[in-house]
Amino acid sequence: MKIRVLTKEDAPLYWPVRLRALKENPEAFGASYEESANRSLEQVAERLNASDNQFILGAFEADGQLVGLTGFSRESLSKMKHKSMIWGMYVAPEARGRGVGRLLLHEVLEKAKKMDGLEQIHLTVVTKNTPARNLYLSMGFRPYGLEKRALKVGDQYLDEEYMVLFLSKDE
Ligand SMILES: CC(C)(COP(=O)(O)OP(=O)(O)OC[C@H]1O[C@@H](n2cnc3c(N)ncnc32)[C@H](O)[C@@H]1OP(=O)(O)O)[C@@H](O)C(=O)NCCC(=O)NCCS
Repeated sequence: MKIRVLTKEDAPLYWPVRLRALKENPEAFGASYEESANRSLEQVAERLNASDNQFILGAFEADGQLVGLTGFSRESLSKMKHKSMIWGMYVAPEARGRGVGRLLLHEVLEKAKKMDGLEQIHLTVVTKNTPARNLYLSMGFRPYGLEKRALKVGDQYLDEEYMVLFLSKDE
């Protein structure tokens, strides 16, 4: 498995995987398939304009197939740039259970630890999403809050847990 930062040129590979994630796992993400589906590849490429503070990682099989994604974004304002967030974690069903999700998170953490002044990584997870929740807990993320009815998918409400990982050892 190869993990690397996606670039604008990866838009045609990235977008079908992201749309599949939104379509097949609507209960896992804040974004919806319906609101995302008509985005042009040019618009998608703009979002893949990676910087030190913002990037999307891809996990590639040996044959080049993109099977996993995770986004990272750091706050830019001076009082908040000690904080960052992970979003859009997804592994294609056929690649699950082989450590790809853990590998993606590990790579984000390795990058994050090298970022000057970065102290915290936040994320949200739907409380019922046991695979994702277990993954985050096993990587050291800890719950610090609960948002009741954070998402409404059709007529179903989903609660979300807020989680954080403090990078410094004194927390
Ligand atoms: C959550 C997700 C990214 C996990 O990816 P994955 O590559 O299958 O996960 P890994 O194989 O790296 O597993 C790492 C850990 O996650 C947990 N985990 C993964 N799948 C699990 C499952 N089906 N049930 C319970 N725990 C599970 C375990 O703690 C596992 O560690 P272990 O293998 O030592 O037991 C994947 O299931 C997914 O894409 N789900 C749909 C989208 C989603 O929910 N995204 C998260 C949004 S917050």
